[in-house]
Amino acid sequence: MAKKRVVLAYSGGLDTSVSVKWIQEKYDSDVITVTVDVGQGKDMKAIEEKAWSLGVLNHYSIDAREEFVEEYVVPAIKANALYMDAYPVSSSLSRPLIASKLVEVAEREGAQAVAHGCTGKGNDQVRFDVTIKALNPSLEIIAPVREWSMTRDKEIEWAMERGIPIPVTVKSPYSIDQNIWGRSIECGVLEYPEMEPPSEIFEWTKPIEETPDKPDYIKIGFERGKPTSLNGEKMNTLSLIEKLQSIAGEHGVGRIDHMEDRIVGIKSREVYEAPAATVIIKAHTDLEKMVLTRHEKLFKRLVDHEWAVLAYVGLWMDPLREALDAFIEKTQERVTGEVTMKLFKGNAQVTGRSSPYSLYDLSLATYDISTTFDQTAALGFIKLWGLPTVTAWALKKKLGISSSGS
Ligand code: ARG
Repeated sequence: MAKKRVVLAYSGGLDTSVSVKWIQEKYDSDVITVTVDVGQGKDMKAIEEKAWSLGVLNHYSIDAREEFVEEYVVPAIKANALYMDAYPVSSSLSRPLIASKLVEVAEREGAQAVAHGCTGKGNDQVRFDVTIKALNPSLEIIAPVREWSMTRDKEIEWAMERGIPIPVTVKSPYSIDQNIWGRSIECGVLEYPEMEPPSEIFEWTKPIEETPDKPDYIKIGFERGKPTSLNGEKMNTLSLIEKLQSIAGEHGVGRIDHMEDRIVGIKSREVYEAPAATVIIKAHTDLEKMVLTRHEKLFKRLVDHEWAVLAYVGLWMDPLREALDAFIEKTQERVTGEVTMKLFKGNAQVTGRSSPYSLYDLSLATYDISTTFDQTAALGFIKLWGLPTVTAWALKKKLGISSSGS
């Protein structure tokens, strides 16, 4: 009888390499590995060879960088997505994409189960499991790292006994996850929130002490909310992000260090590098302030916040996200224009913006005498605008209630 088939998300690291053998042994199953390139900058060929050396039945290398940018990152830009006003949800966005590739391969290969290397303490397990179950509820989910209770040392011993190659990075105390949109660094000394992150953890951003003493000005062009040009040169969003990553990183822009509420209720200290995301979201937010009405912009903040939360908490597949996207897409019709930013000593500062859809009217805004604004209309407006407040105070006074209200 043919063995059961399990499709595993394979990164080439220690956990997922041990997972291959774990599933083969404990589940008496054939393993098919899938490595999805979302811009993690790893040698896909080397990962594939490693998978074959572990005796997999089949291996898939999928270059999903373009899809990741177009279907996940661009919507995040349009939503100005920052979880807890800080984290551009980079890792969060990649999980539903990787999960959907696992399901695709499982269906093609006639597999009964899919597997991933997430722990039971993090957010990623939620994102994987919910997406997989939404797409194909008949697939069983195996999460070896969540079920084995091995310490790191025990895991290395287990791997050595089975001839699993131990990556050199295993000595690093850090857990790193990176893609086109950002880089997350966890564990080691970072688990002490009162201590400054050691400089060795940063790879995409220079420390301020070493950044250039002269600023760089960049100009980002948007079309319907999507970044489409850099310094006047048209390019696809993937190349634009890659270019910006190094320009902004050179100026130390995009280091994020904050306290984060995980889905499972744990507070954790999280450190990220996301130079391009930091710059692009700032520019996009600013352009929206120029082209959206006050009412649109204020309401969109609520929608944006909800969008970032959904992406973070593993509910990418919820119909609510599609509904929010429909609203956001409508607002982006006029988000076309250019934003100039000054990059200097860790800062990305907007210094100018322009748009054919600008709602800014100089003749209204100017304090100059030539204004077209009818100042006499202000009087009646203020009377009605303040009416509820003034009425409430009149009552307070009548009843002798003190100004604090008590
Ligand atoms: N805290 C971030 C998030 O939940 C980063 C997770 C990084 N994942 C990892 N396996 N290292 O999105």
